[in-house]
Amino acid sequence: MQSTPSDTILIIGAGGQLGLELTHELRQRYGASNVVAADVRAPKDAATQESGPFELLDVLDKNRLEEVMRQYKPTQVYHLAALLSATAEKNPTFGWQLNMDGLFHVLDASVDLGVQRVYWPSSIAVFGPDTPRENTPQLTVMNPNTVYGISKLAGEQWCEWYFKKHGLDVRSLRYPGLIGYKSLPGGGTTDYAVDIYHKAVAGQGYECFLAEDTYLPMMYMPDALKATLDLMHAPAEQIQIRSSYNLGAMSFSPREITASIQRHVPDFQVTYQPDSRQQIADSWPASIDDSRARQDWGWQPDFDLDKMTDDMLLHLKQQLQPA
Ligand code: SER
Repeated sequence: MQSTPSDTILIIGAGGQLGLELTHELRQRYGASNVVAADVRAPKDAATQESGPFELLDVLDKNRLEEVMRQYKPTQVYHLAALLSATAEKNPTFGWQLNMDGLFHVLDASVDLGVQRVYWPSSIAVFGPDTPRENTPQLTVMNPNTVYGISKLAGEQWCEWYFKKHGLDVRSLRYPGLIGYKSLPGGGTTDYAVDIYHKAVAGQGYECFLAEDTYLPMMYMPDALKATLDLMHAPAEQIQIRSSYNLGAMSFSPREITASIQRHVPDFQVTYQPDSRQQIADSWPASIDDSRARQDWGWQPDFDLDKMTDDMLLHLKQQLQPA
């Protein structure tokens, strides 16, 4: 599907780490007035609210969701609102409710109101301690043991069900940890890899909540945006997987990202104080086999660890400079 002037896009969770950047990107491509940003609270950055339409929306309020959808008649919906892994462990009932009921509301309203295409993110958290950790295959033992992971795995199966049962063109990616300089993540296990850059440019040390040899799959935000839009723009017949695609770019440990930063900031120091998030990280893959995404719709990442570090530090330093 080409982006046409007749496309209207609704982004739910537009104030989040991914939502903020996707809103910006989609407004560039589709025209600002055709991209409706929605979130449960007004976003911290004024741009999301001011550069195009913005609606306050709690996705758990189905009537309000339908009201917004009837008003704007979106042809595409990006549903990004969720509690991430660490936060959902602390608040399991609400984590399950938001992650599952929110998805049902969006899928049902999309069927009822004739939305053409839906995007919903899954995560490496769908895998668990019984999953092969290296080069984790698309199809393998799952058994996630976090609330977040259980909700994402169930959500994947529901997306596939809505595709088969209702013909809803819903598409999904299992993101690795996402790293960007424009927005901060909240409540995830992979967040250390964002925080660490902020400390490095501020000239401070960093206390890492994961052990130094904990390998996790990660991705730089420009690659995540590219993957998302490539998936959403691919012809429907190329989308062979209707649960969610494995997606990879790089894999590193806290020790390795520290060394990458030290190429620019030689005296940067990191100490290690693993907390409850270590257990979550230990249950997830260290690296991902994303060959199906490469085969089906041509996925290829652009950034490795050092290239990402160079770009992150450059932009974060620029942000620190007075305008
Ligand atoms: N980055 C997420 C988290 O750490 C995983 O999808 O919770």
